[in-house]
Amino acid sequence: MPKLRLRAAAPAALLAVALLALSACGFTEYPNSTFNHTTDFNTSIDNIFQTLVFWGTIVFVVVEVALIVTIIKFRKRPGGPEAKQIHGNAALEITWTAIPAIILVLIAVPSARTIFETQKPAPAGALKVQVIGHQWWWEFRYPELGIVTANEVYVPVGRTVSFELTTKDVLHSFWIPQMGGKRDLITNKTNYLWFTPSDTLETMAWNGFCTEYCGASHANMRIRLYTVQPAEFEAWARHQARDAVFNPAAAPAVPVVPAAAGAPPAAADTAAGWMYPAEKLPAHVVPQTPIPAGLAYDDALLAGGDAARGAQQGFLMGGCIGCHAVRGVPGAVSNIGPDLTHIASRHTIAGGLYRNDGPTLARWIKNARHMKPGSIMYTIGRGEYDPILKTTQQAGLDDRQIADVVAYLMALK
Ligand code: CUA
Repeated sequence: MPKLRLRAAAPAALLAVALLALSACGFTEYPNSTFNHTTDFNTSIDNIFQTLVFWGTIVFVVVEVALIVTIIKFRKRPGGPEAKQIHGNAALEITWTAIPAIILVLIAVPSARTIFETQKPAPAGALKVQVIGHQWWWEFRYPELGIVTANEVYVPVGRTVSFELTTKDVLHSFWIPQMGGKRDLITNKTNYLWFTPSDTLETMAWNGFCTEYCGASHANMRIRLYTVQPAEFEAWARHQARDAVFNPAAAPAVPVVPAAAGAPPAAADTAAGWMYPAEKLPAHVVPQTPIPAGLAYDDALLAGGDAARGAQQGFLMGGCIGCHAVRGVPGAVSNIGPDLTHIASRHTIAGGLYRNDGPTLARWIKNARHMKPGSIMYTIGRGEYDPILKTTQQAGLDDRQIADVVAYLMALK
């Protein structure tokens, strides 16, 4: 009977559609998908998921078919005989207890194996990265390489990376869906997470998120993870480990006299290291957050920004060093806010919320709290309204001074 065959085929068709939809999850269509086998971690997690779907589908099909057949075959018919009255069936009951037990074992064994596999210490030789959660940004430290950075983390393909997760304040959770392995950052406890990006991966950028509610800007606490080739990682790490390329102490006294043609640059070393090329950033990692209305800044001022003046009058004397470190600059050692040693080599600011460019940086310095709810970076622009203190900033920096600070920060390649 063709009608009945159609009905029996329905669950199989449903499964086929689901699998087809799943197999279509590519990097580009679903850039934050967790189903791609980009690391050993998400491969093993996906294997468990497939096992569960496999057994779940078999159970679903068998149970539903038995149910539908029973409903149709044994339904009450007018004038039919009374159903046979029975009391239990030992063989049947043992069978329907034993089969689920066997299925549970088939699910439990690989699950437990994967839990132990992913919870054990990272293999020797793994790249150590300390992840420190802050409200609302991420601090990344490479203790073996002498690197401190924020919100953007580089890992070489083919090498295991071992994250050590702690928090400065409240609970956060570290998750880069494409790499697998969401894990919490807990007060007074270090959690570990490690995985190996597949060595077949091309140089790529991925999104990461905070996945534990942590306050007003929980949604504005994002990560960019770059999986790069070993040589690119070497070049990036070598530069990141160095002191700031622009040293305010070594900069000429202000006002700056324009250097004569052919004269050596004021800063001893302005060489930029390797960073993930901006033109190759996939659209899914480029911040789309618009600048909130009501924050005016004349971008024409940026062209006149003076890095040396910004370093001395803005960064050192304007209070930035109260919260931010710039390695190699005496006194700039605070780690309340992100380390700015190589801020110009990052694509994003403000916990990954905005693009890192002059106009955005200027507005951020002017009124960070207007751009990111709850930001602990206070409002610096003179005459700006501070939405947390609910007062107008009477001191602070004017727009021209902000342009100088932006010039300085943009010099920190
Ligand atoms: Cu940090 Cu949510």
